[in-house]
Amino acid sequence: MVANRSFILGTLLARVFANPITPVPEENEAAVLSARQAGSGVHLVNCGNSYSTVVYCINDSNCNFYPAKENQCIMGISGLFKWEGVQGPVLKGCTFSTGVRFEWGISPLPNIPVYAEVGPGQNGFQTFKCFKDNKRTMYSDGLNQCKSIYYCLPR
Ligand SMILES: *[C@@H]1O[C@H](CO)[C@@H](O)[C@H](O)[C@H]1NC(C)=O
Repeated sequence: MVANRSFILGTLLARVFANPITPVPEENEAAVLSARQAGSGVHLVNCGNSYSTVVYCINDSNCNFYPAKENQCIMGISGLFKWEGVQGPVLKGCTFSTGVRFEWGISPLPNIPVYAEVGPGQNGFQTFKCFKDNKRTMYSDGLNQCKSIYYCLPR
């Protein structure tokens, strides 16, 4: 089951990584932004240069606050996590305290434009599309500004 999902995502990843990333046209950018208003989202966040965390937002247009414990999944405390690429044959991911694991495959290509689609995500219940974000500050943890690097929306 897990292997099968990984296989499907591997195929998606191969497709995403094989194709050059095209800039999102202006009108699609508006569509992307309005899709963000519609529901939940997952953000891949860097807090200063200190640590990286995955933040789940039940309402993605109301997500600029310090996340509840069950809605953030910290990627270790020794520096920023490299979001892009895969870890060997498996997707990168993080298991929340709720037991839900979110996984993603972000294209490692350089110079991808902001808001371009960069790869798939999944949480075991839904599949997601991930996009490059504009590094806006979502919240402060008291010491660091926590900035959205990528965001993923349910398909
Ligand atoms: C999501 O947040 C926006 C902005 O605060 C709000 O206008 C909207 O009603 C919220 N949606 C839901 C479903 O709560």
